[in-house]
Amino acid sequence: MRLLVFGGSSFVGRAVVTEALSRGHAVTTFNRGRSGLDVPGVEAVRGDRARDEDIGVLAGRTLDAAIDVSGLVPAHVRRSSRALAGTVPFYAYVSSVSAYRYGDSEPADEDAPLHEGRATEDGEPTDYSAYGRRKSGCELAVHQAFPADSVLIVRPGSIIGPHDNLGHLPWWLCRISRGGTVLAPEDPGRVIQLIDARDLAAFVVGRVEEQSGGTFNTVVDAPTSTMGDLLDECVATTGARASLVWVDETFLAAHSAQPWYEVPLWLPDTADFRAVWAVPGSAAAAAGLNCRPLDQSVHDTWSWLQSGGTVRTLPGLPAVGMNPEKEKRLLAAWLGRRA
Ligand SMILES: NC(=O)c1ccc[n+]([C@@H]2O[C@H](COP(=O)([O-])OP(=O)(O)OC[C@H]3O[C@@H](n4cnc5c(N)ncnc54)[C@H](OP(=O)(O)O)[C@@H]3O)[C@@H](O)[C@H]2O)c1
Repeated sequence: MRLLVFGGSSFVGRAVVTEALSRGHAVTTFNRGRSGLDVPGVEAVRGDRARDEDIGVLAGRTLDAAIDVSGLVPAHVRRSSRALAGTVPFYAYVSSVSAYRYGDSEPADEDAPLHEGRATEDGEPTDYSAYGRRKSGCELAVHQAFPADSVLIVRPGSIIGPHDNLGHLPWWLCRISRGGTVLAPEDPGRVIQLIDARDLAAFVVGRVEEQSGGTFNTVVDAPTSTMGDLLDECVATTGARASLVWVDETFLAAHSAQPWYEVPLWLPDTADFRAVWAVPGSAAAAAGLNCRPLDQSVHDTWSWLQSGGTVRTLPGLPAVGMNPEKEKRLLAAWLGRRA
């Protein structure tokens, strides 16, 4: 097939391109040439999707499908989907579970209400303050340009794997590899729901090959891996002399440890966040989404880091990870409290 990938040079897009090339497809990528190196073997077209004239260079190409990985702004997705409608038969869009209105507080299947997105909303892709609303607006933009059965929408939860550009798992691997006493956020038994970018990519490319539309939560269905499994695996994989000290989350909150970015992948077990790791994934599983075991993702991410891979974090997002002084201070307070 002849596939056009919007993005394709950083993380998820890179995995999609790598998967498509490995299946023998011809891949054109469209990006500005800033975020990463193109995967060898692609035809790289340079352009900014915020600009009509740049998207215009794609006109007149014969393509079997477009895969839009990089859409964060509805007006950008509207521009690209409208430009291709009528000539390209299929459009796949990588959305997010953040598009759900109550996604963090109630488990959301694919029919749950979305944020009130607008297909025309414009702005800077680096503004993540309305991320969920914008992802919903991007979905709308695709649906307005293409017939329903020619649209694939995937809504991943949190994504991990080599080339990670959010940096949460890489941070844990690097922190744990330094060894010593490591602050870990209780509860080690808390189930987490992480998908490997390569599994997501295989699902997307498979559906695109079949020109099979639909909307799917692309998450591990009924996950069983826990935060404890993840951090234990980081210890095993790095071979570090590290001991995890699980610190109560009420204590963390009281000492202004910030969930998610400062303590990567930690979400307090409160009503606000309870549904984040409990997204129903049965529809995608039935449609062929296969998720590899967590230890493989941890291992391969560490191999990537060891071979010189660096996290090219996305502009506009907060720094990831707790600084070492604060970690020491919190550990001393926690251990002192228990003595
Ligand atoms: N990571 C997660 O945990 C997670 C979870 C749920 C959903 N998602 C979604 O998954 C997708 C992941 O994206 P990714 O960063 O991994 O994808 P990617 O396709 O690997 O990288 C982003 C691409 O977008 C290109 N790009 C950015 N701004 C552009 C512009 N103005 N014009 C043209 N190209 C532009 C970048 O290249 P240049 O900068 O060189 O232009 C880069 O190639 C996103 O849509 C995100 O919302 C991610």
